Amino acid sequence: MRITLGVTGGVAAYKAAELVRRLQQEGFSVQVVMTRGACEFVTPLTFAALSGQKVITELFGDSSGGEANLESAIEHIAVAQRTDLLLIAPATADIIAKFARGIADDFLTTLYLASTAPVVVAPAMNVNMWNHAATQENVEMLRARGVKIIEPAEGYLACGMTGPGRLAGQEDILAAVHEVFKAQRDLEGETILVSAGPTCEDLDPVRYISNRSSGKMGYAVAEAAARRGAKVVLISGPVNMETPAGVERIDVRSAEEMHRAVAERFPAASIAILAAAVADYRPVERRGEKIRKANAPLTISLEPTTDILAEVAKNKGRKIVVGFAAETDHVAENARKKLSSKNADLIVANDVTAEGAGFDQYTNVVTLFSRDGRDLALPKLPKSEVAQRILDEILRLRTLLYAPAAARHSNV
Ligand code: PMT
Repeated sequence: MRITLGVTGGVAAYKAAELVRRLQQEGFSVQVVMTRGACEFVTPLTFAALSGQKVITELFGDSSGGEANLESAIEHIAVAQRTDLLLIAPATADIIAKFARGIADDFLTTLYLASTAPVVVAPAMNVNMWNHAATQENVEMLRARGVKIIEPAEGYLACGMTGPGRLAGQEDILAAVHEVFKAQRDLEGETILVSAGPTCEDLDPVRYISNRSSGKMGYAVAEAAARRGAKVVLISGPVNMETPAGVERIDVRSAEEMHRAVAERFPAASIAILAAAVADYRPVERRGEKIRKANAPLTISLEPTTDILAEVAKNKGRKIVVGFAAETDHVAENARKKLSSKNADLIVANDVTAEGAGFDQYTNVVTLFSRDGRDLALPKLPKSEVAQRILDEILRLRTLLYAPAAARHSNV
């Protein structure tokens, strides 16, 4: 597990040095990121020596220019991708305000925006700064976004005042880290099959029929499931996407290849989420040579492909099978039809003509139609967040369908 520890500029910054050691003793690999303010209190060398890793302090590296600068300009993305949890200790009022308002003017604030990992914040500051309405409002904003805030401890503060503002104790911080990791690993033991991207149906050696799927939605689902502890098998059509960490990826091209791969891996899965935009039709004939241009209309005969979702869901037993519905009209009606005709447990419907939704967008606007009759309309969200909501809904549905007693108990 990889923790990125953000150290910001307060007197308590020195306490983060001991925290690095404790986290390492608990088996975490720790990458330290320091703000300029933090460097006024403790040197990066201290953290580099303790963590055994280069400490990141600048968004653009040193100012000498050249290749190294280009690398460091995108380093926040690389660090974001390998961060399993972002811990800020100590967190100043300034960093809390920047996180709350989405200001990205240094490495740590940019990393916060680029990361999809859970975030834990341990504030430490003067008591009046902590109690100030602005800080409290910012803290509430972060809480509402799912950030775990570790309340500062009460006591004598470096400024000479007494009250809440001391960095929480190491034990409290470690307990919060473990708690967040545990809550985030609710898919441990599951094997999740995800399909993503388009399929390409070849007409001849140079031409094919395809669609506009980029793979972003399916890859977001695969990444979120892996982060939550599932073993993920991702069956992907041709896309230009990085394989998410810890995910097994199988590349396919046509609907037929995708069908074979899904059918082969479905028996070992407990959950299947089929987000791929599979071709409904393929050319009856794939020509061995390039189709020559002629001065006459060209007719191409197409035949239906196998409906992979309907096929695997026929014998799904207690597996949860999720399909998507890419619609341009009558979204709810069509999605409900697909839910029953394909024997799915959940259909994630998107109106692909809506702004910020559907193909090749970083966001999506979806409604989740569940087998128990619930329709959950979500606002426009990043695809990473849509993925989390789909996984939450799957777990809710499975408890309801297959462990009804436990579900009733948890509703009491
Ligand atoms: O990849 P992105 O650019 O991020 O875009 C995301 C998306 C728009 C592709 C995604 O959100 C989405 O809607 N995926 C499903 C696209 C689709 O094929 O929808 P459909 O309504 O035609 O199919 C319904 C379901 O049946 C889908 O789960 C599909 O995977 C499945 N299907 C369809 C045809 C077929 N031959 N076999 C299938 O299994």
